[in-house]
Amino acid sequence: MKIKNICCIGAGYVGGPTMAVIAQKCPEIDVTVVDINEKRIAAWNDEDVENIPVYEPGLPEVVKEARGKNLFFSTEVDAAIDKADMIFISVNTPTKTYGIGKGMAADLKWIELCARQIARVAKNDKIVVEKSTLPVRTAAALKDILDNTGNGVKYQILSNPEFLAEGTAIQDLKKPDRVLIGGDVETSEGKEAMEALVNIYASWVPRENILTTNVWSSELSKLTANAFLAQRVSSINAMSELCEKTGADVNEVAKAVGMDSRIGAKFLKSSVGFGGSCFQKDILNLVYIAKSFGLKEVADYWEQVIIMNDHQKRRFAANIVKTLYNTVSGKKIAVLGWAFKKDTNDTRESAAIYVADYLLNEHAEIVVYDPTVKEEQVYADLDYLNTRSSEENRSKVTVVKDAYVACEEAHAVAVLTEWDEFKELDWQTVYRNMLKPAFLFDGRRLLDRKTKEEVGFEYYAIGN
Ligand code: NAD
Ligand code: UGA
Repeated sequence: MKIKNICCIGAGYVGGPTMAVIAQKCPEIDVTVVDINEKRIAAWNDEDVENIPVYEPGLPEVVKEARGKNLFFSTEVDAAIDKADMIFISVNTPTKTYGIGKGMAADLKWIELCARQIARVAKNDKIVVEKSTLPVRTAAALKDILDNTGNGVKYQILSNPEFLAEGTAIQDLKKPDRVLIGGDVETSEGKEAMEALVNIYASWVPRENILTTNVWSSELSKLTANAFLAQRVSSINAMSELCEKTGADVNEVAKAVGMDSRIGAKFLKSSVGFGGSCFQKDILNLVYIAKSFGLKEVADYWEQVIIMNDHQKRRFAANIVKTLYNTVSGKKIAVLGWAFKKDTNDTRESAAIYVADYLLNEHAEIVVYDPTVKEEQVYADLDYLNTRSSEENRSKVTVVKDAYVACEEAHAVAVLTEWDEFKELDWQTVYRNMLKPAFLFDGRRLLDRKTKEEVGFEYYAIGN
């Protein structure tokens, strides 16, 4: 079966970049990315390709090449579903904020809405692809909804989880470690659908890197991969606290440990805590699933990864208060970096939000600088926590467009995102314009202790 028309529901951080690369690599396929968010679609269609809603190195070039040729962004969801042979569902699956499983389970409201919309609109057979990260066995629910419309349309459901990381999405998509496709391996229709998706990726990914499994393995592998990755960060962060007590340096420990080829060097960078839209939500989801099967020990084991991460954010903020003579009340603290990692404008679950919130509770005044995050996003992130009124957030937090301005007259600077440009700052100038003693808290191990101390800073870094 040859796919000619793809529709992707959800034009977010995954749907947008993923479909842009498919369109670029498969010029014979028409790819339409749809979303109910009109503002987002308008931004994807902005004449100036630098204004697309997802900041991702290399993405504007890919969009520029394919948009208007075989890549389209639209709010006409029904029309795109109708036309497509293959429909990717790439909508958000956040942690539930209400009802059963509140604070743990994945909210599948948007997924189900997509399934019902497809069921209502489809007139010919479709392959439906789960691109969103979903609890294991979600495909069964999708199938139930789709198969019960009585209009004779046949569906194949595939799981094709996405492993891209933000900031490196384009390179991850162009050269993935593996592509995972789960489907109904028992039937010829199932195998045919899997082969159709394999063929799309095979346009640029070597066949041996395209794995096919049953649907449940595929769904569960995605949650497992994120849990393992986050676990590594929590493991090294746990060691960072011990390093600070013992005189060991967490970077040296990470290097020594990572050189063991069985352990590996990647993902051992100690930090103020992992953020991002997925690690926490996916682990909580895993914990919820384990609990729902009565697997208490499994649930507790993975929950510890989150407990450690929350502790890391809290202890970083608490250390700022303690170091500043046990009070930050009325003191200006410059926050450099608001995004959850460098090279993205995404702030979801960013450690910076929680550190700022903690310091605001201690009556600090916060000045934020981030090269990609907009002012209204900073306020929206703080408002979302509901810790204080939005007026208070606006009166205590200022967002500026220049790192030097952020640090002027500050008691302390906290580096919370590892943006390269922070390494290049003229730290002498920063120091000169700060109140003394000038404290520098490096939540990313981005800066060099020796040179910063020579400048005059009281320098504190995670794990050192
Ligand atoms: P996102 O919030 O950036 O985008 C989701 C989009 O779906 C939104 O623009 C929303 O308006 C749209 N949407 C929701 N319901 C819709 C509907 N019924 N019809 C049309 N549009 C609808 O989310 P994201 O970061 O792209 O993540 C999407 C999924 O991919 C999640 O399940 C996530 O866990 C997974 N994932 C994300 C990443 C990542 O790096 N962000 C990586 C791998 C997997
Ligand atoms: C992560 C995974 O890496 C992707 O494979 C996955 O597809 C994605 O989640 C998802 O499912 O959403 P992402 O969250 O975009 O990608 O970024 P990461 O590079 O994994 O970083 C996550 C967080 O961990 C960031 O806050 C980062 O600063 C932190 N981190 C990462 C560390 O503190 N130390 C490290 O060594 C690595």
